Amino acid sequence: MSKNLTNNPRVKIKVKKGSKTVSSRRWLERQLNDPYVAAAKKDGYRSRSAYKLIELNEKFNFFKKGQSVVDLGSAPGGWSQVALEFVGASNKGKVVSIDIQDIEPIEGVIFINGSIMDEEIIDTIRRNLKTKADIVISDMAPYASGHKSTDQTRSLLLAELALDAAISLLRDKGVFCCKLIRGKGEEELVKIMRSYFTEIKRFKPAASRKDSAEIFLIGLNFNNQDLA
Ligand SMILES: C[S@@+](CC[C@H](N)C(=O)[O-])C[C@H]1O[C@@H](n2cnc3c(N)ncnc32)[C@H](O)[C@@H]1O
Repeated sequence: MSKNLTNNPRVKIKVKKGSKTVSSRRWLERQLNDPYVAAAKKDGYRSRSAYKLIELNEKFNFFKKGQSVVDLGSAPGGWSQVALEFVGASNKGKVVSIDIQDIEPIEGVIFINGSIMDEEIIDTIRRNLKTKADIVISDMAPYASGHKSTDQTRSLLLAELALDAAISLLRDKGVFCCKLIRGKGEEELVKIMRSYFTEIKRFKPAASRKDSAEIFLIGLNFNNQDLA
């Protein structure tokens, strides 16, 4: 599923004065010139983020046929589509995903419309999953406020909640992969991860925009302390 995503000639948007804000014109130009947006459209993925998960799996090879996956922050559904392809619904693979935003149904994916902050959410995921998860992935991101340190703090909170969910849901030797906006609290989070996973990796996929401070933290080989 790896793609050679070379850029086409750059598209520039010409607009009549006053008809578009500078930021909406920039956003549109970026979308039109983004090879991952074009590839997602062509490949039928709902998001350009789908390629981040494909790259993450190319690097760490964590998906196997027949596995059970929990996808946190799944809207509009690109990661769930990719995860389902990797674990194979026909091979008894299972994907349970959650988001505060609703999504168009994806055949083979169980979607729960809820927040990671809901007290009941872990039990709801567990009930739908019916087994321990092999992999917990989180691409959760806060609504961008435009205020860097606020967004970074919120991203850290979502990553911490994703880790809590992974600790509750993963089977022994399972994998956790989560997005984080880099900054304050990253090292503390990695330190906590070290007490639950044998190996911790940090990876920024090529599909992650260069001007974005996001990184992915990967915890390999979960050590279920409840079983110790
Ligand atoms: C970057 S998008 C995810 C894109 C998705 N991985 C895909 O490939 O389509 C981040 C998502 O995190 C979700 N999110 C933010 N806060 C959340 C929360 N408290 N609980 C669950 N999802 C949340 C947002 O609604 C948003 O859909």
